This record gives sequence, structure tokens and C-alpha cells, in this order.
Amino acid sequence: MSVHKEVKKVTTHILQAMKARNEKIAMLTAYDYSMARILDAAKIDVLLVGDSASNVMAGHETTLPITLDQMIYHAASVVRAVKRALVVVDLPFGSYQGDSKTALKSTIRIMKESGAHAIKLEGGKEVKDSIERILSAGVPVMGHLGLTPQSIYKFGTYTVRAKEEAEAERLIKDAKLLQKLGCFAIVLEKIPAKLTKIVSEELEIPTIGIGAGPSADGQVLVTHDMLGITKDFHPRFLRRYLELFDEIQNATERYIKDVKAQEFPNEQEQY
Ligand code: KIV
Repeated sequence: MSVHKEVKKVTTHILQAMKARNEKIAMLTAYDYSMARILDAAKIDVLLVGDSASNVMAGHETTLPITLDQMIYHAASVVRAVKRALVVVDLPFGSYQGDSKTALKSTIRIMKESGAHAIKLEGGKEVKDSIERILSAGVPVMGHLGLTPQSIYKFGTYTVRAKEEAEAERLIKDAKLLQKLGCFAIVLEKIPAKLTKIVSEELEIPTIGIGAGPSADGQVLVTHDMLGITKDFHPRFLRRYLELFDEIQNATERYIKDVKAQEFPNEQEQY
């Protein structure tokens, strides 16, 4: 019997048990009540209220503009829908870097006002103090290494990270540090599959990959990409399970046609 099938409520400890039993973790993003209900009913293990909401929900080019208040609004909507999944919320850009007291304040607002179960933040040793302070308040922390979109203007592109040996070594060091500090899992974004294998084998805590190959202990995708709601985003790592943009456009065109032709509503669709 798998941990995934037995579990009624996913916790950070369950995720660690899944890694120990070599059972992969499935994570997706969610930003609203209706979608979160569907994903939770499908028994997704982890729902990430990602700051990708900045792109997907608000149409910004980067994740930088989204605010703490906006993240809390999305997180509270997701939490209201969820019975089983672990809900993890991204600390948005500017809410934790550089000052661990601000990091804790932001975290406490998320936990109190949304009811979420854990937070995620980007970076390694540069955010060590923030991680320590958040953990000391009893809040579980998920790390995020490799491509860290909040630093896009430092890197300049969204290409694969840690291809060079020096950066790969730095990433391994950071991953070990995050584990030592007490993070319960680490997202590895867009790094070579070989490096993911090394990191995942060296760590006891689970790694969750996105564009990081099959050796991660779990996988995460942005739900709107996976369902084909976003249209012009075709990275190699993305598998689309539906083409919902086209499906929804088609349904909308049929609705418009029916309204214009006075075929909606019909006899049965009125009082
Ligand atoms: O914000 C997000 O959606 C993320 C995932 C891509 C891991 O951080």
C-alpha cells in the first residue's frame, strides 16, 4: 500500500516518509478555490500557492510585482478548498530577503491570515538567517534552489542553472545547508538531471523538481501550464495533459453563437 493512498491529510512528515519509501511526491500550483478543490479531490500531495500567480493570475512578466497581501488572498482561497493536500505558500519578493525579522513577520501574516501549512522561499546561504528565524517560530520551510525567478534580473535569463561545476558545487552546498537548518523539502528548478540525482541521493529530505529530471523525489508543475491554459510557453520539461485554452475558447465561441442566434436560453432553461 502506498503512503499516498493511505493518507487522509498530508503533512511534512508524510513527505519525508514518502522519500524513505521511494514513493514520488506530486505537487502542483493553485491560486484559487475552484481549481484547488479539483486538484485536492484528485489527491494531489502538495499544493503550492506559488508567486507564479504574478504571471499566471495577474499577467505580469515576472514574479516580482506580487505583494504579500495578494499572496495571502490567493492562499486563503486555496486553504478554504483543501481537505487533504499540504498547502505551501511562496514568500513574495521583498518580504524576506535581507532582514530575518521582516521574513518572520511576513510568514506569521501568511500563516495567521490564510491558514496555510508551510512557506517556501528562494535561495541558499544568503537567506540562512530568515530560514532560522522562521523555523524557530515553528513554521515549516521549503527551500528553492537552481533557477530562482525572483532573481531574474541578476541572472538575466530563464535558462538552465548550475551547468558549470562551480555553480553545481555551490548548489550542493546550499542544499546541504538548507537540510541542516531544518527545511522539510527543497524545490530544484531547471538544473541538469545529473545534478538533481546527486543532490537527491545526498539529502534525507525530499527534493521536488521542475525541469530537473526524473531523479527528484517529487515533481511540480504550474497547473495552468500542465492543463494548457497558458498558451505560448513550451519549455522542454513541460508535459501538457490538456489543451484547455483551445477547449475554453471553443466553448466560448459556441456560447456566443447560441446567444446571438437566440438559441440560448431554450424552453427548459427559463422560469
Ligand atoms: O511560483 C511557482 O510556481 C514556483 C514553482 C515553479 C516551483 O515556485
